[in-house]
Amino acid sequence: MPSVTVRVPAKVNLVLSVGPRRPDGFHELATVFHTVSLFDEVVASPAEEVSVTIEGAQADSVPVDESNLAVQAARTLAAYAGVTTGARLLVRKGIPVAGGMAGGSADAAAALVACDALWGTGLGRAELSILGTRLGSDVSFGLVGGTALGTGRGERLTPAMVGGTFHWVLAIAESGLSTPEVYAELDRQRGKRAVAAPTVAPEVLAALRAGDAEALGAVLDNDLQPAACTLAPELEATLETGLGLGALGAVVSGSGPTCAFLVRDPEQALDVAMGLAAAEVSADVQRASGPVPGARVVT
Ligand code: C5P
Repeated sequence: MPSVTVRVPAKVNLVLSVGPRRPDGFHELATVFHTVSLFDEVVASPAEEVSVTIEGAQADSVPVDESNLAVQAARTLAAYAGVTTGARLLVRKGIPVAGGMAGGSADAAAALVACDALWGTGLGRAELSILGTRLGSDVSFGLVGGTALGTGRGERLTPAMVGGTFHWVLAIAESGLSTPEVYAELDRQRGKRAVAAPTVAPEVLAALRAGDAEALGAVLDNDLQPAACTLAPELEATLETGLGLGALGAVVSGSGPTCAFLVRDPEQALDVAMGLAAAEVSADVQRASGPVPGARVVT
């Protein structure tokens, strides 16, 4: 069996409304996931054991032991489907590591799709999604991609209608933030205050349907943003710089520290990207567009 290559995109949360902390430690969410064209690739090749190697500028920051989500994904699928062989996984990182763009979950989604094809287990997306949810809250979305309303801990998905392509500039920080630490900081800031049930305003879905970037820019919102900015105070300046350059909206992506700027078109993306790079407020600046499909076999 030849190797299988799967390409999987990063996500930003256009809205991330965080409700109360649940007894299982997760928070109830209402979020709008949106894939953007920054990709990881996972190549799965025949092998007796499951192993992983990582390529890319931030490869050293990704573990290659049991804690690697792609390894966990392969093992979970093998156990579920009764597969006794292994797979050698190669992960080519294009998604920022620990950047709030679900890079780890994307790799898990890609590894599920790649190993399913490599081993001929023939599971449907729905079954892979159930396995994916055991691995991380964002894995289900990595399997489908596009733009979707997420509830529960983010694993219950409803596709959202999108009337066009949106253009983004992403400011990527030098070092990452830990998702559990950002949620813990949010809980600390909330203290004993009562927390309302999470919601997504109808204006967000209307802006998406209309393909109206200006309207969408005005309603980008992330409850984790204040906590991320407390843990990484330099993000305030990054967000202000992008807005000062004329971006239609700015939001910390997921638990951060990547900042996502919505712009009008590819020309404005170039202007804002160049301005952010010149201001030296982040380690790297990338342009992307969305939505794009989720994890797909490319060979
Ligand atoms: O599911 P995932 O591995 O992405 O979650 C990482 C951590 O983020 C969890 O252990 C939890 O601390 C926090 N989290 C949360 N509520 C969610 C999703 C994640 O508290 N809905």
